[in-house]
Amino acid sequence: MTRFYATTPIYYVNAEPHLGHAYTTIVGDSLTRWHRLLGDEVKFLTGTDEHGLKIQQAAEAAGMSPQEFTDSIAPKFSEAWDRLNIANDDFIRTTEPRHKAAVVELLQRCYDAGDIELDTFAGKYCVACEEYYSDEELGDGDLCPIHQRPVEYFEEENYFFRLSRFEDRLLDWYAKHPKAMTPEHRGNEAIGLIKGGLRDFSISRTSLEWGIPLPWDSKHVTYVWFDALTNYLAAIGFGDGSDAYKDWWPVDYHLIGKDIVRQHCVYWPAMLLSAGVEPPNGWAIGGWLLSGGEKMSKTSGNVIDPLDTIEEIGLDGFRYYVLAETPYGTDGDFTWEGLVGRYNSDLANNLGNLMARVATVVAKKCGGIGTTPNPDSALAPAAATAFEATAAGWDIVQPSRALDATWQLIRATNAHLETNEPWKAEPGPAVDAVMGDALEALRIVAILASPAIPDTAQAIWERIGMPGKVLDQRLPAAATWGQYTPGEAVTKGESLFPRIKS
Ligand code: ME8
Ligand code: MG
Repeated sequence: MTRFYATTPIYYVNAEPHLGHAYTTIVGDSLTRWHRLLGDEVKFLTGTDEHGLKIQQAAEAAGMSPQEFTDSIAPKFSEAWDRLNIANDDFIRTTEPRHKAAVVELLQRCYDAGDIELDTFAGKYCVACEEYYSDEELGDGDLCPIHQRPVEYFEEENYFFRLSRFEDRLLDWYAKHPKAMTPEHRGNEAIGLIKGGLRDFSISRTSLEWGIPLPWDSKHVTYVWFDALTNYLAAIGFGDGSDAYKDWWPVDYHLIGKDIVRQHCVYWPAMLLSAGVEPPNGWAIGGWLLSGGEKMSKTSGNVIDPLDTIEEIGLDGFRYYVLAETPYGTDGDFTWEGLVGRYNSDLANNLGNLMARVATVVAKKCGGIGTTPNPDSALAPAAATAFEATAAGWDIVQPSRALDATWQLIRATNAHLETNEPWKAEPGPAVDAVMGDALEALRIVAILASPAIPDTAQAIWERIGMPGKVLDQRLPAAATWGQYTPGEAVTKGESLFPRIKS
């Protein structure tokens, strides 16, 4: 059986989950749901990043110890993911023992390889990014280029990871794995960072308390990136003294935003090469969701709460919008008008309307009982094409393309009904065949759309009279034309997606 392992970033717990976090998590959720339909054994990992100065400061500001503080915020992420119907298989917190064991193991391996060394460091540091910046990278007044707020000057003895030694090894590795980063334009940015020259990066500080001590020098605490990135190995047992992690490693996709490409596509594979661990099979790099033209972030104060949004538009309406609206890798502007517009056109008018009219006509012309599809239906080739194109979209981690391909079948089915006008015809074999075709198309649509809109897909499945669960269907077999089981009651139910007035 094929295994498929995908991860989201582990999110900082200094802020509560917002739409930007939800975006990457929903992409990962739908991608892994697709792979479950393919019959893969799936592991989908998310979690929280809980160490470091930024969290320590946020805890102080809240008048709590770091542990109390992270214990109070981490559940907000897992609760938000429950409400967004995220089917993650694991949730890792960097304060867990399994994580600490993995970080210690990876640090020790890189140290033994000679790639971690002590040095003195002075530099300007953005606490929000948890990154040092050179003078060229900083704006006037020493403002962080991402957060537009002042950096802090630090000078101390640090251990360094000798990233500068990995330039050629990384370029060679990427040359041999040209499709590892998707979409291509984002991958090219990472290659550009490597070609631009690599600086060693600091991995430990003596002034920090909230973190994992270095195994060979406990005055030093490792911070953010060496700690955080290792979660992806910790969750599959790296550090438990066995090689069992290799059942899942290399990971198939790290889903990340473009803000953390340097750390994931440059630092991380270098750390792994140093430690004698294979780099990832893939990285899928998303753009930013902007609000009012700026990256949505706690620091910019323009965050949208995904849980408020689902109150307004419904869970699947929201999931569909974030997946369908923006090609993955490109920045997208989140607007209420855009959300309502897409909801009304694709969900209310196309899918919702198709379900309602099929149920209505079956009730009026077929006695409310599902009929047999025509094996030679004009819709059969449309369904085959929709399946192939949907699969191709998920295969390159482009949910918007996958959904567009699925929606072609919805549009073709509405057109098939308009051409045949079964609502005007006398009941009989001709109407039965047209309605059987529409029911069969809806069966296939429910399967193909289920990674994006799982609850709605299950509702359609039940309304057309199919037994069991849509998520137990297996592709490609289940997409073959002609498997609709006639003879069951077809029910109309409430409108799947009531139109929203903008
Ligand atoms: O960087 N648009 O955590 P973080 C799209 N802890 N995606 C967004 C977004 C936006 N406006 N805002 C956030 C960290 N994201 C580290 C990661 S991983 C080993 C450690 C998403 O809480 C996007 O995936 O700042 C981005 O990369 C991630 O949240 C950053 O979350
Ligand atoms: Mg961030």
